[in-house]
Amino acid sequence: MASKQKIAQLRCMGCSSLEPAQTADFRCVQCGELLEAVYPAWQQNGGKQRPLNPSALKKAWLQRRTSLDPLDQSGVWRFRELLPILSDLRHAVTLAEGNTPLYRLQQSARQSGVEQLYVKHLGMNPTGSFKDTGMTTVISKARELGVKWVACASTGNTSSSMAAYAARAGLKCLVLVPQDKISVGKLSQTLEYGAIVCQLPTDFDGCLQILSQVVQQASIYLVNSANPYRLEGQKTAAIEMLEQLGWNVPDHVIVPGGNLGNSSAIGKALLELHELGFIPHLPKVSVIQAEGSRALVRTMQETKGESLVSVKAETLATAIRIGSPVSWRKAVNVLRATGGACEYVTEQEIAAAKAQIGAEGIGCEPASAVTLAGLYNLRKQGFVKPRETVVLMLTGHVLKDADYIIRFHSGQLLPEASEAMKSFCNPPIKAEANPKAVIEVLERFTNEKAGALA
Ligand code: F0G
Repeated sequence: MASKQKIAQLRCMGCSSLEPAQTADFRCVQCGELLEAVYPAWQQNGGKQRPLNPSALKKAWLQRRTSLDPLDQSGVWRFRELLPILSDLRHAVTLAEGNTPLYRLQQSARQSGVEQLYVKHLGMNPTGSFKDTGMTTVISKARELGVKWVACASTGNTSSSMAAYAARAGLKCLVLVPQDKISVGKLSQTLEYGAIVCQLPTDFDGCLQILSQVVQQASIYLVNSANPYRLEGQKTAAIEMLEQLGWNVPDHVIVPGGNLGNSSAIGKALLELHELGFIPHLPKVSVIQAEGSRALVRTMQETKGESLVSVKAETLATAIRIGSPVSWRKAVNVLRATGGACEYVTEQEIAAAKAQIGAEGIGCEPASAVTLAGLYNLRKQGFVKPRETVVLMLTGHVLKDADYIIRFHSGQLLPEASEAMKSFCNPPIKAEANPKAVIEVLERFTNEKAGALA
């Protein structure tokens, strides 16, 4: 299983220096920008000869799905040639992440007016969110570096994922979360996997700021998405999506935007695959944010992506309640390179879209549903055309925020429900504990349906 790999180098996004001196929160000491993983070996041969063999690798990656080797069974590490970040693969810590399903949505396709609509459900990862694909790489790197403690600030998914992988790796971990602003499910999960959890009376941005100072002063390794090794693992969502589409490039990939690590990772994967000759052209990668947390939207509108416009974040989609996204510059580069759009959606639109995904038997957490809500807007604007193929990235499992679902279906989520929201509302029914009462309920619904069809 062990194999010596050609290893990544880190490059500054700002001044482009290779392997610059860096701070503990992964910024270039010279210019303060974030770092990204690059692979000089891919640039050799003067571009005349392909450094990797796309058709051989596409075959090998698929074949690994039938292997019994834990690394091959991981939907991250089976693509290891595109993320050579470890000097020894024996350090890899895996929970069989990735290999998540790509589903076709029929009703939502009809309603949004696109023929081919897919969701890549990253919520089907071991801890229920896309974070696992990046956590396997960053925790493996932490183990290789010999660190003892890892840490993150989180709206709940990163913390759940970090806690699980740290437990598997035998590392101690510290979590900073905004007090009372993450779902009970995510908090429970993080505690269950054994993380030390500090609830701070601030928001996610405040937690991250404090953690950036903590890691400068204490010997603890930051695994938020500022850490470039996280994003390398998260690239695999895009690689796997293409594999599942038979390497036919979709026209659009739509991603929720919070701290903007995921959109950056997906964009990076697509750009690398294009450059390495795996795909002939790029899809447009669009980023959708919640109205009350639309820092990237405002950054694009007000500064054309030149400087970050931070906002005081608010949204019921707590996973993306982020006002000062760390990876904003990387996300701007992805929007520019792929020609994607950046839009926001309202709370009502998120709630209706989420219920619609649920009603198709798929389900996701609120932050993921911004993608379908965003698609409706992009269709209205004509940015997405009827004949085009669209993939929505669903980032979290339906049970991540059960409280939101119960409040939605009992009509208590928002002061005012839109018509779309009302059409999906499905409250539980209290009935007496006898067969007659249950049959009455059944008849009421049978008659309602018959009435609707008449
Ligand atoms: N969707 C879900 C379910 C998330 O948990 C997050 C981020 C995002 C989308 C946004 O992704 O930050 O890469 O743009 N959650 C982080 C957390 C912040 O701490 O769990 P992003």
